[in-house]
Amino acid sequence: MLLAVLALVLAVVLGAVGAGMALLLRGGISAKVEPTHAEAVIARKLRSLGIPGKYRQLSNPLSISKEVIEAGRGHFADHCAVCHANDGSGQTQMGRNLYPRAPDLRLAQTQQLGDGELFYIIENGVRLTGMPGWGDGTEEGRRASWHLVHFIRHLSTLTPREKLDMEQINPKSPEEWREMQEDQEFLKGKEPANREDAHHH
Ligand code: HEC
Repeated sequence: MLLAVLALVLAVVLGAVGAGMALLLRGGISAKVEPTHAEAVIARKLRSLGIPGKYRQLSNPLSISKEVIEAGRGHFADHCAVCHANDGSGQTQMGRNLYPRAPDLRLAQTQQLGDGELFYIIENGVRLTGMPGWGDGTEEGRRASWHLVHFIRHLSTLTPREKLDMEQINPKSPEEWREMQEDQEFLKGKEPANREDAHHH
């Protein structure tokens, strides 16, 4: 009798694990499949539970100023835009293909997170996702994260001029640097160095 009950329990547990695995691994291990709605909701709920209560009440200790936004913008262009894009849309090669995707930071689901929650996510990252933790345990690092929180609030009113500034700061491959230099020289009216051979009289 006991054995029969045990066997039944085992069968139910194995069945549940199997169903869970099948759901998680639909499409194999590919990151390309779209996360299901249920998965996204559960992941968000779990993440929210993982953020210590004291951070939920915290508001940004730095007051907003032109300099603070500028600092946050530079930092975002340098470290975050590879995944999140300069405008926060998440429309980058990396952001679109991570599982879960890099979210559009301008939308309500991000904007309704508290300052402290954004800060906590930036400092610590989100485990099992592409979001890295950026905190280095220093006061300076924490200030940089608070700058970023202000900048995330500012994303929906980003101007084209600001986006252009960010493009200068975005990390570039050597090839891209060369192109940018050539463009600048061209704009200044100089011939790019490698076109000299086309200059016969
Ligand atoms: C390698 C890619 C990558 C980089 C670089 C990156 N992020 Fe993220 N970020 C993600 C992903 C993926 C998520 C979604 C995590 C999740 O679903 O819980 C995310 C989530 C977030 C969130 C939570 C938004 C929400 O609504 O869930 C914030 C805030 C954030 N990132 C800010 C930043 C900042 C600021 C930087 C730069 C200092 C940065 N990220 C750099 C990939 C990245």
